[in-house]
Amino acid sequence: MTETATGTDWQSWQESWDRQQEWYMPDREERFRVMLDMVEAVVGPEPRVLDLACGTGSITDRLLKRFPNATSTGVDLDPALLAIARGTFEGDDRVTFVTADLKDPDWTARLPHTSYDAVLTATALHWLHSEPLATLYGQIGGLVRDGGVFMNADHMIDTGTPRINAAERAHRHAAMDRAKAAGALDWADWWAVAAKDPVLAAPTAERFAIYGEHADGDMPSPDWHARTLLAAGFGEARAVWASPSDTLVLAVK
Ligand SMILES: C[S@@+](CC[C@H](N)C(=O)[O-])C[C@H]1O[C@@H](n2cnc3c(N)ncnc32)[C@H](O)[C@@H]1O
Repeated sequence: MTETATGTDWQSWQESWDRQQEWYMPDREERFRVMLDMVEAVVGPEPRVLDLACGTGSITDRLLKRFPNATSTGVDLDPALLAIARGTFEGDDRVTFVTADLKDPDWTARLPHTSYDAVLTATALHWLHSEPLATLYGQIGGLVRDGGVFMNADHMIDTGTPRINAAERAHRHAAMDRAKAAGALDWADWWAVAAKDPVLAAPTAERFAIYGEHADGDMPSPDWHARTLLAAGFGEARAVWASPSDTLVLAVK
């Protein structure tokens, strides 16, 4: 229980966020596990991590539970998700949160460090169109130390396989519809609950003013991500895990 002076049970918000995200991605925890396996494999168990588009700090949470000597900087623009992140990790000097827009050309100047062992991100970069994402990859190339690692776990679509994609999508959505009928909260439902919370109502209104319901972006293929990371200065890049809908792309500097 991480209840604080505000009376907010941050752990409950973490858990309801996880359930909502898992409604979209039943393999989410496996994705995190493989991501941290590869962090350990490439840079070891005490990394300095940048949790990019951290939301409530889901990657940071799994990172610190598994590697207690790791440190993390979480960066995001959403004031409500950052409120949950800051409430959860309050007093933990391994963690720093930074408010920044990843489309701002100078966002890296807000970070407490100029270099990271690992930059990790999940379910976030599809909020950006390909062009700003390529620019962001160039900036990440400058933040990862030589020998360090970048990983992006996200929905990535290979447009060369339309029949497979349609069948996979229909199957996934049928399972989601069944879970919703059994009471699962989707994105809109979850935000409607946050908007009624006395502590989260104001930052939730702010995040809707920033993003609307959800920012528009692209979902390029795993190959596009690997090629763009090589062009951004990484030495090697490829997928290290995939589900029928999602891919984890890893790049080593
Ligand atoms: C679906 S959430 C995923 C959060 C977290 N990584 C997780 O796996 O639970 C997507 C996150 O990307 C963040 N995001 C999207 N565009 C952003 C931008 N331009 N700058 C900073 N954060 C952004 C959103 O605010 C949101 O927290």
